[in-house]
Amino acid sequence: MSDKLVSALVTDLKTALKGVDDPADAIARVTPLVKKMAEDTSWVKPEYYKSDNEQGFGINILNEEPDNTLLVEVICWAPGRGVAPHDHQTWGVVVGIDGTEVNVDWRRKDDGATPGFADLEMASETDITNGVVCTLMPDDIHGVRNDGDVPSVSLHVYGKVLASLNRSEFDAINKTQKPCPQRKRTMANA
Ligand SMILES: [Fe+2]
Repeated sequence: MSDKLVSALVTDLKTALKGVDDPADAIARVTPLVKKMAEDTSWVKPEYYKSDNEQGFGINILNEEPDNTLLVEVICWAPGRGVAPHDHQTWGVVVGIDGTEVNVDWRRKDDGATPGFADLEMASETDITNGVVCTLMPDDIHGVRNDGDVPSVSLHVYGKVLASLNRSEFDAINKTQKPCPQRKRTMANA
């Protein structure tokens, strides 16, 4: 029954995104569909609460297309852990499912003309809890951390498979930009 919700989401996403190229348009169409997944969470499996100790979070892939479009994944952030600021190079919509994770939006102050250099300042922090949506444009830079005592779980939809993209990770203190490390990912139902 619960897997039906995931298959229905993927079908609805494909319908909603047909012929859509504009990231803002895609985000507007995807947002109500992911919000629905936070209302009935019977599709969430116990293994989605597991995280990789080295990485600090766990990723379960629910969908990715052969042409590297339409990534749907569940991410679990371990208590006290997080991820450095990074971009996505595609649009994204995140909805909180369980627990609380802090989404940190960063603003870039330099023009990106100096390779390896990036000057960031924190723009805002948002608590992502069940049903709270965070949207990401391709060049947006964000980080996430879990300040709580329990894992946080969120559902993510991206226009493209992130592992197929040349993304960047940032260090706001040392003002550096470098290639984003590849994440450890698990195929759900594999
Ligand atoms: Fe991200």
